[in-house]
Amino acid sequence: MVESKTIATQPYYDQKPGTSGLRKRVKIFQQKYYTENFIQSVMHAIEGGSQGATLVVGGDGRYYLDQVMQIIIQFSVAAGIKKLIVPQHGLVSTPAGSHLIRKYKATGGILLTASHNPGGADKDFGIKYNVRNGGPAPENVTNKIFDISKSLEQLHYADLPHVDYSQIGTQTIGTMEVQVIDGVDDYVDLMKEIFDFEAIRYFLQENKDTFKLLFDGMHGVTGIYGQRLFVQEFGLAKEKSLMRAKPLPDFGGEHPDPNLTYAHELVERVEKEQIDFGAASDGDGDRNMVLGKNAFVTPSDSVAVIAHYAREAIPYFRKNGVNGLARSMPTSRALDLVAQKQQLEHFEVPTGWKFFGNLMDAGRCSICGEESFGTGSDHVREKDGVWAILAWLSIVVHVNKTKPGTSIYDILQDHYKIYGRNFFTRYDYEEVESKKATELIQHLQDLSIVGQTFDGFTVSDVDDFEYRDPIDGSVSSHQGIRIMFKDGSRIVVRLSGTGSQGATIRLYIEKYSNNPSEYAMETHKALGPLIQVALDISRLKSFTGRDKPTVIT
Ligand code: G6P
Ligand code: ZN
Repeated sequence: MVESKTIATQPYYDQKPGTSGLRKRVKIFQQKYYTENFIQSVMHAIEGGSQGATLVVGGDGRYYLDQVMQIIIQFSVAAGIKKLIVPQHGLVSTPAGSHLIRKYKATGGILLTASHNPGGADKDFGIKYNVRNGGPAPENVTNKIFDISKSLEQLHYADLPHVDYSQIGTQTIGTMEVQVIDGVDDYVDLMKEIFDFEAIRYFLQENKDTFKLLFDGMHGVTGIYGQRLFVQEFGLAKEKSLMRAKPLPDFGGEHPDPNLTYAHELVERVEKEQIDFGAASDGDGDRNMVLGKNAFVTPSDSVAVIAHYAREAIPYFRKNGVNGLARSMPTSRALDLVAQKQQLEHFEVPTGWKFFGNLMDAGRCSICGEESFGTGSDHVREKDGVWAILAWLSIVVHVNKTKPGTSIYDILQDHYKIYGRNFFTRYDYEEVESKKATELIQHLQDLSIVGQTFDGFTVSDVDDFEYRDPIDGSVSSHQGIRIMFKDGSRIVVRLSGTGSQGATIRLYIEKYSNNPSEYAMETHKALGPLIQVALDISRLKSFTGRDKPTVIT
C-alpha cells in the first residue's frame, strides 16, 4: 500500500506557462516546492480530472530531468493517475512525445524541455503540458494551471523511493502503472508509414561513395533518433554520418539551436568536406536546419519546397492528399505561391505553433512552417525536426530518380525557376530595454506612409496583423507590424514572445524577384537596399541605440 501525504505550501506568482510551457532557469525550479507546486497545479488542471488519467512523461535529457521525473511520479500516484507512459531513460523528442500521446490515446503529456535553450545547472529547464490531441495546452488550460498555482495551499504526493525508468517494462506503484517503453520505436514506425524507407535506403546505399550525409544532433535528444534512422535503418556509417549524437545534460555546453550561428561546426564541415546533405535539430527535436554544398535552405523556402513535392515524393501525402498549407505571418510568402499553383487553401497565422493545431484538427492544414526553423505536418501536433529532414531527404531521393546528381542547390534553383524567389532575412535585436521596444512599435503603429516611395520601394499598405481563427473564431491582435510594398516586398517588425531578458525586436525583410538573373544572388546583396529602407522607416537606431543586430538568420 502506497500512502499519500499532504503538506502545506505557499503559492508562487510567476508560474504562468507560455505556449512552450513554464521555462525558467534551473535555479528557479530548485526553489523550495517550486517544481512541486507547478506539477500539483498541472495535476489539478488536467481536463476531465487526474483520476484515471494516462500521461506520457519524458523530455530532452537536459540537466534536472530525473529530479522532476521523480516529482511527477510521486504526485501522479497521489493524484490518482492510472498510468504513466515513460520513454526509456525519460528521453523523448517533443514531436515523438506528441505522437505517443496520440497513439496511446493518453489524456495528455508532460514534456520536460526548454527546447533550444542551453541546459545545465546554471541554464534553463522547462515543463510543458500537452493535451489529448498531442499539441501544447491551449490558453484556457494554461490559464487554469496559472490560476490554480496562485492559490495553491497544499501538495499531495506519495513518498516513494527513487523510481528507475532505465529498463523497458511495467511497474506498479500503488494503483498506478509506470510503463517504460522504447521511446524511439513508435516514432520510427510512424516515419516508416510516412516516408518510403526502402527508396531512401536504396539511394543512400547505391551512392555510398559519392553522396555524403551528416546529421548533427547538437547533443540534444534527436541523437537517439539519428542513430536509429541513419545508421540502423539506412545503413550509413556512424562515424561519418552522425555528429554530436549523444544526448548530454548540458548539450556539451552549447546552444542546441540549429541555425547558421549555433550549428557553425556543422556548417563548416559541410563546406570543408563537401557534404551533400547536412542537417541538424534542436535540443528537443522540433526545429530543423537543412543545408548542402553551397546551399542553405531557409526555413521559409523549406516549407514551400516540401509542399511543392509532397504528393510526388512522400507516400503519406500521396495517400492522404494535401488539405491545405499554412505559415506564420513573418515567414516569407514562398509557400503562398505553391498554394496558389496547386489551388490549395492557405493560411497566414500569428507566430506560434499552436495556431496550426486548430487548422490541423479541422482537417484544413497538412503542411506548415515558420521562419524560426520550424516545419511540420499533421502527423503530430508539434513541429518536427526529424520529419523535416526526412522530407528533404525524400525529395533529394525523388528528384535523383529522374535527374541523377541533382543537389540541394539545384532543387532550390529549380524551385525559383517555377515560382520566383522570395529573398528573406531576419535581424534580431536582443535584450533591448522594454520601454524603447514599445516606443518603436508605437511609432510604427502611427506611421502614415502609404503611397510614399523609399529608395524605389512604394508603400502599398501598413497594418498591425490581426488573426481571426477560422475554426473557433478567436481573435489575436497586435501580432506584428506589416509594411507592404507595391512590388510584393514586405517588412515586418514584431516583438519576440520567447525572450527571457528585456525585449527582443525582430525585423523581417522579404523581397520577391521573378527575374531569373537574380536567383543565384546572395541574400544580403539582394536585400541590401530594402534592409536600409526598413532601418530608415522604423528609425530603429534612434529608438534603440543599436547599429547592429545581435543575430542574423
Ligand atoms: C517557439 C515557438 C515557435 C515560434 C518561435 C519564435 O519555437 O514554438 O512557434 O516561432 O518560438 O517565437 P518568437 O516569438 O521568439 O519570435
Ligand atoms: Zn525545440
